[in-house]
Amino acid sequence: MEYGIRVVLVMNRKGGSGKSTLCRALASAAVARGETVTIFDTDSSKSCLNWMRAGQTAGHWSPSVAVIHTLDAHRVAEAIDQIYEQPDQEHLILIDTFGGGSEAQDMLAVAAHRIVCPMMLSRGDLSETMETARWYLTLRQRIDRPEALASFSVILSRVPARLSETERLVAEELFRSLPACEAWLSNRSAYVRMDREGLLGVIADKTPNRGLAAHLQAAVTEAGALLDEIDQSILSPAEVA
Ligand SMILES: Nc1ncnc2c1ncn2[C@@H]1O[C@H](COP(=O)(O)OP(=O)(O)OP(=O)(O)O)[C@@H](O)[C@H]1O
Ligand SMILES: [Mg+2]
Repeated sequence: MEYGIRVVLVMNRKGGSGKSTLCRALASAAVARGETVTIFDTDSSKSCLNWMRAGQTAGHWSPSVAVIHTLDAHRVAEAIDQIYEQPDQEHLILIDTFGGGSEAQDMLAVAAHRIVCPMMLSRGDLSETMETARWYLTLRQRIDRPEALASFSVILSRVPARLSETERLVAEELFRSLPACEAWLSNRSAYVRMDREGLLGVIADKTPNRGLAAHLQAAVTEAGALLDEIDQSILSPAEVA
């Protein structure tokens, strides 16, 4: 399947909702599938930039993945234009944002093909996710061509194997209220390792313990299913709100 160049904006006003982990997991899945990946890290904490450095130091990196740190949305838009000028390619562009941001992110939203909003199953995450969705709806009203604005959907992050009663209620309320992806990211130690050590698939390939490698590979597969869903929705956006 060929998807070409896709720009995915990852945002949620809520700090610690899993934005950077989602970027790293999607990047890991895309590179495992042979694609080129560029992550724009627009967070002053340099979360993804530091991840690249840690991955390179550990030997868990790939030349196909670049992380560019900038707080300037204009620079992101320009760099995306430059990527479009390159010949046909399978290129996933991810934009990681900081919690709490809003207006500065309007420009990034307009450049995106898809806006995804990771949220953990807590009341706090749900209410901030609703706020983020409200920002999206008002942005739609403000811009000249609302029909061209990328669609927005929530992605559940750090989903435990068994939901508590509160988590179940939060999930139900989410699915009643907002568009959400069917795929999600589970709570996995593999993602915590990825966050510290580099690209998931590369870590898996270099892990001699087969059981451990299989756990890491399962996380690559999970992230790949999510990437497939995002890619499909970019190809045929009709069904999403
Ligand atoms: N699927 C997951 N499984 C296990 N741990 C996770 C998962 N997703 C996120 N985490 C952990 O939760 C914490 C917060 O995640 P992350 O840094 O991705 O959030 P964020 O939204 O980028 O935060 P910020 O708003 O500060 O940028 C991190 O310690 C991360 O390792
Ligand atoms: Mg982050």
